[in-house]
Amino acid sequence: MGQRATNPPDHSSRGFATRAIKAATTPPVVDQRANSVPLYLSATFSAADAEELGAIATGARPGYAYARIDNPTGAALADALAEIEGAPAARVFASGMSAIHAALASVLRTGDRVLATSAIYGSTRSLLLNQFGRLGVTTTFIDATDLAAVDAALALTPTRILYVETISNPTIVVVDVAALAAIAHAHDALLIVDNTFASPYLCRPIELGADLVAESATKFIGGHSDVLAGAVAGSHERIASVRQVEIDTGGTLSPLSAFLVLRGLTTLAVRMERHAATARVLAAWLETEPAVQRVLYPGLASHPQHALASRQFPIGGGMLAFEVVGGRIGGGAFIDALTIPELTASLGSIHTIVAHPPTTTHRQLNDAELAEAGIAGGLLRCSVGLEDLEDLRLDFAVGLAAASAAASAAAARVPHSQPVGA
Ligand SMILES: Cc1ncc(COP(=O)(O)O)c(C=O)c1O
Repeated sequence: MGQRATNPPDHSSRGFATRAIKAATTPPVVDQRANSVPLYLSATFSAADAEELGAIATGARPGYAYARIDNPTGAALADALAEIEGAPAARVFASGMSAIHAALASVLRTGDRVLATSAIYGSTRSLLLNQFGRLGVTTTFIDATDLAAVDAALALTPTRILYVETISNPTIVVVDVAALAAIAHAHDALLIVDNTFASPYLCRPIELGADLVAESATKFIGGHSDVLAGAVAGSHERIASVRQVEIDTGGTLSPLSAFLVLRGLTTLAVRMERHAATARVLAAWLETEPAVQRVLYPGLASHPQHALASRQFPIGGGMLAFEVVGGRIGGGAFIDALTIPELTASLGSIHTIVAHPPTTTHRQLNDAELAEAGIAGGLLRCSVGLEDLEDLRLDFAVGLAAASAAASAAAARVPHSQPVGA
């Protein structure tokens, strides 16, 4: 039998509706420690009197009043994420984009300039150019692996924010967070890092000198393709500004979502180890396959930033990319032949998710534009899930056979207008 509050107000003489509301909203008193964070779905929290409510609302004393501003389940997740990010404080958001928006909006003013990695998530590019652009913020893009170029660009024009992604889409580019933090600070800029592809298990940008880290917790942290969430971590002072954006714009994470992300966080370490172990074997095997032209995995010696990745990350992570023969046609044939991976847009899930950017996210680009963006027609991006390695390998082998067959069929269709050897 659960306990009820001691000395509750007596509503027994009230009408049915009043009694039902009071009875059904009286929380149990629990004087034991629950082994998971309780889910507080309440949108409002009562104070003892008007003065206490005022003190809570103005932040003069800790407590809860209205769940958009603070709610206990969200606060528990924010504290947990601050702890694992190695940051003094954190706030949690309704999505990764909401978190990235709050991180940027907490700093930017009209007339500011942002220097951002050219290998950037598409919605973040749009946020910077379209939303902040309308408000008078200028963004220029740069290859953030070229430290000398970043240094020169920051020296040339006063810049408020250097914005990068630890590992970026779709070619799995790795940047040197510590070096970029030092360069940004030398030019009075702040470094903001989107750490979504790495997750805090692989990399903790705050410990490497970043001023704010933003994550889509929809991906590896949540881990199960069942919740949208985001987080920003940093110093108490910076997170106070981020919180103000959150309160003013209402991008608060729902308590149910916070509960699901907390559950994901408890298994992040074991999931990341398994994602990475499977990804490493798959990547090494793909490199030996004749239908594969190139493999990009930070844990392989062939990756352009392998030395940096080995220094910066304990393991290679769960994301890899590879190019199959046959260009766009080969990539499309590969993905259509798969039976295990989900054909969808996200990453960092229990499910393996394979994307073919040239026929999906980047399909509006012609071959020349794709090449300029460093994306080969046959490029596939793979977020390696938790399925059995051998099942994935066999499924991918079927995909590679389909890519080869499609490449041969396409080659046979090309008219031989040129003499062989011309
Ligand atoms: C690198 C990166 N950052 C941010 C986001 C946005 O996250 P969300 O979809 O949770 O808003 C994504 C989503 O795919 C992403 O890949």
